[in-house]
Amino acid sequence: MSEVKSTNITWHAAEVSHEERQQVFGQKGAVVWFTGLSGSGKSTIARRTEQLLLERRAPTYVLDGDNIRFGLNKDLGFSPADRTENIRRIGEVSKLFADACVVVLTAFISPYRADRDNVRAILPAATFVEVYVNAPLEVCEQRDPKGLYVKARAGKIPEFTGISAPYEEPANAELVLHTDKLSVDECAQAVVDYLAKNGYFL
Ligand code: ADX
Repeated sequence: MSEVKSTNITWHAAEVSHEERQQVFGQKGAVVWFTGLSGSGKSTIARRTEQLLLERRAPTYVLDGDNIRFGLNKDLGFSPADRTENIRRIGEVSKLFADACVVVLTAFISPYRADRDNVRAILPAATFVEVYVNAPLEVCEQRDPKGLYVKARAGKIPEFTGISAPYEEPANAELVLHTDKLSVDECAQAVVDYLAKNGYFL
């Protein structure tokens, strides 16, 4: 992790305590971190989870891989260093959301275990909920919702995760969702159930 470059800066604490904020929001903040191959179902499940949470009036927000790369991270590509920086920035943004007591749902391939662990490490205990969206490569390739696997196999996309770039599976994910066996609704419900069971809703 890099050092802080600025000097003469002071951290300002909020006037409102985190506990007061939690009471108002009726929940603890969380970073539900979906990780998995392209086409595994991360964004789809995150968006369905968002709907379920909003139905119970739980403040929530989705940060999605492709969308973030249009704005905040438009200067980044898919080299290992750029992916690491992508995840680092998302981690910092997620930390702010979680501090604001939002349940943030992130949908990024985040292929490197060390990058995901770094995000876990900057967050308060039990804030990071790693969800491995696990579908076999063959299934993701069959789905190919954006036609990217076909292009990658044809050598038209360099460093494509699962084909010509690595994906490191989570070792200790809080939740594993086999999207080749479960429906989108079942997966999203499993996430909400996990949060409920583990005391995120007050
Ligand atoms: S990550 O590896 O840095 O976490 P991220 O989730 O932001 O990736 O973006 C992945 C999305 O970018 C994929 O779903 C796909 O639509 C697109 N994409 C374009 N090029 C690549 C590539 N070389 N590898 C993986 N995904 C790519």
